[in-house]
Amino acid sequence: MSPLAAPPCSSELSLSVNEVAIDPAVLAEAVSGLTVSPKTLSPWLFYDEAGSILFEQITALPEYYLTRTERAIFSDHADEIINLAAHASSETPQCLTLVELGAGTATKTGILLRAAVRRQSHVIYQPIDVSETCLVEAQANIESHIPGVTVIPQLANYITQPITITRPTQAQVLALYIGSSIGNFSPVQAREVLLNLRAQLQPGDSLLLGTDLAPGEHKDVATLVAAYDDAAGVTAAFNLNILNHLNRDAAADFETANFAHRAVWNASESRIEMHLESISDHRVNVADFEIGFVAGETIHTENSYKFTHEAIAKLLCDCGFSVAKSFSDSQALFAVTLAAAV
Ligand code: TRP
Repeated sequence: MSPLAAPPCSSELSLSVNEVAIDPAVLAEAVSGLTVSPKTLSPWLFYDEAGSILFEQITALPEYYLTRTERAIFSDHADEIINLAAHASSETPQCLTLVELGAGTATKTGILLRAAVRRQSHVIYQPIDVSETCLVEAQANIESHIPGVTVIPQLANYITQPITITRPTQAQVLALYIGSSIGNFSPVQAREVLLNLRAQLQPGDSLLLGTDLAPGEHKDVATLVAAYDDAAGVTAAFNLNILNHLNRDAAADFETANFAHRAVWNASESRIEMHLESISDHRVNVADFEIGFVAGETIHTENSYKFTHEAIAKLLCDCGFSVAKSFSDSQALFAVTLAAAV
């Protein structure tokens, strides 16, 4: 608050609560999630400014194999992926345009765009994201580093809004949904997201889907859990930061020291669950609400579903796609699946 806007010092008003600028959406989410049992908070609350920086750090952690493994799969197979997508509907290769859901700053996408430019010299890339800052950065990065790519950014929430795809004459679409983001949805929501996308595609268009693989023969549960509970504590800080967000934007008074980060493998649901566990019986204020916690009780903050190859094929099939080819790494940690719209 600027000094000019400050109320008189002698005022009898209590300033402590009233001075806090409340974000109504954050408050509504906090109240609806924390006044029910079990307590939950919505994952979008992770991504305030500090959370976005922490998430970038997670993607570079030694334990978080997802980002670097997906990048390596792209590096090894980009030309083949682009060629298959361009040939999806006929023997004659078509001109491709790439559309990306939840593009962020599009750091990994450059590998695929370079391959597309090698094949057809000019490519239109349409990143869709809710963050304008990310889109501006993506456009600047890509247009300055990859000649031949024209970026048409779209500021939209692909989960709640219908997306619009620009289709240059005769072009086929290759839609990208990478980074294992599909795993952050429940099975029902994941189908809704892919069905919405499918509604904008035509037969012969393709989808490239990045999914983290379930533990099994090649991957043990410990590897998976460590990716969500790293030794340096970055993921813990990321999870706990959701409470800082509520303190700032929902007039809450959480003490992060009263909570511990937990990453739990739920085998029957095939998902990693993120929780914040209360380490004592205590009470917290969220604006005018008082929330009680007992020791051991958790706030469930996120799910990250893990897939078998069969589950990926079933999901795609349910949503109007059929698997063209699946790519993985030598340790079978991660899968990148190219599917054709049927
Ligand atoms: N899409 C990421 C994933 O599920 C998001 C993520 C990584 C995440 N680490 C996290 C979400 C920790 C919550 C907490 O892998």
